[in-house]
Amino acid sequence: MVICVIPRKVSLLEPWAGQFLKQGPDFMKNQRLRYGSFFKSHILGCPTIVSMDAELNRYILMSESKGLVAGYPQSMLDILGTCNIAAVHGPSHKLMRGSLLSLISPAMMKDHLLPKIDEFMRSYLCGWDELETVDIQEKTKHMAFLSSLLQIAETLKKPEVEEYRTEFFKLVVGTLSVPIDLPGTNYRYGVQARNNIDRLLTELMKERRESGETFTDMLGYLMKKEDNKYLLTDKEIRDQVVTILYSGYETVSTTSMMALKYLHDHPKALEELRREHLAIRDRKRPNEPLNLDDIKSMKFTRAVIFETSRLATIVNGVLRKTTHDLELNGYLIPKGWRIYVYTREINYDTSLYDDPMIFNPWRWMEKSLESKSYFLLFGGGARLCPGKELGISEVSIFIHYFVTGYKWEEKRGENLVVFPRVSAPKGYHVKVSPY
Ligand code: HEM
Repeated sequence: MVICVIPRKVSLLEPWAGQFLKQGPDFMKNQRLRYGSFFKSHILGCPTIVSMDAELNRYILMSESKGLVAGYPQSMLDILGTCNIAAVHGPSHKLMRGSLLSLISPAMMKDHLLPKIDEFMRSYLCGWDELETVDIQEKTKHMAFLSSLLQIAETLKKPEVEEYRTEFFKLVVGTLSVPIDLPGTNYRYGVQARNNIDRLLTELMKERRESGETFTDMLGYLMKKEDNKYLLTDKEIRDQVVTILYSGYETVSTTSMMALKYLHDHPKALEELRREHLAIRDRKRPNEPLNLDDIKSMKFTRAVIFETSRLATIVNGVLRKTTHDLELNGYLIPKGWRIYVYTREINYDTSLYDDPMIFNPWRWMEKSLESKSYFLLFGGGARLCPGKELGISEVSIFIHYFVTGYKWEEKRGENLVVFPRVSAPKGYHVKVSPY
């Protein structure tokens, strides 16, 4: 029988989380040099196995049915709801995932989502050249939030959108906090914000039911009783809505911000990308919206998005937990332990990517890179990001209207950090002028 062999020195290293944050990405690299790519830590305040090996990571992601289920922190689960996709597994996960996939299928994208996203981005990006300074970080965050909210409920009026926005930002901070339910804690604010969003959604659903009208936005499809393979309860619908808002928020906004940053720093890549977008405009009538074929034709833009996601490591890794004692990589891992499927190092592995620290979108023009087993930018297995194409389309449409409408210069002294989360601590300020 295998036994749980945990390098003892590692468990004596304290405090893990502090070192992790202080030393930045080098901490994990150093741990790997000392202990290999599979070791125990206390990084999340509970016994956690860190796995950094590309092949093993893929295996873990493919092994949900063997007892390696999603293992996100308590504050996240409390605030996102007990029915949210990351909190459930087995048949409940199938139901929530099936429901979500049906909302963002290629047909839904073509007929409903892309026209809405196009219209939104076009008006959202209007008039930026009249501003003295544009904070790209702030703008991309609002863009990601508003774009999903309008896909969910296109009938919302401006004051209602503002209400959702205020609550949503508190909710996000709450999910990343320590779950201490005391007055004044971010956790308490997050829980309250979630309750307020539930109240807003409950009222909206009641109004819609009473109106007897049909709606062709995501909420409309979630509430539909006829021809709906995935009938959800009201609580499940609310959790699904919050999940959609939450999952596409930081991923889409940060990818958009970092793509603009890398394009700014690499004029050749910007030139090629702009050529792709101007060619699309050339073959369309003025103001004609982008459609699915246009998005599919944006090969270089897709490459820029993948390269941005890789080089900035928008997602450091994903979390799993064991449902029972199980053997992994020759070790017995006890029930309830967390597994941090750390994918960051894969992005900079010289045996997988030539010159991995260089921004080189052309490496992705060879399609096969996206289908490699170590391509985990969007996760893998049963929890492979269902919003991948939706997210890529949102970023692509944002980039389209930005680069065809504007050129831009950075203000002096802009500072962007990529660890532990990609962000611009003081904002990312640029001056925009018409292109
Ligand atoms: C560029 C943008 C995006 C990136 C980089 C990204 C990345 C990821 C990753 C790495 C996972 C795997 C999580 C895990 O295994 O636990 C994931 C899952 C997920 N993503 Fe995305 N995502 C993006 C956009 C979106 C969007 C726009 C949506 C909106 C629908 C979305 C919805 C989800 C959901 C619901 C899951 C959980 C799936 C499940 O547990 O079955 N994502 N995403």
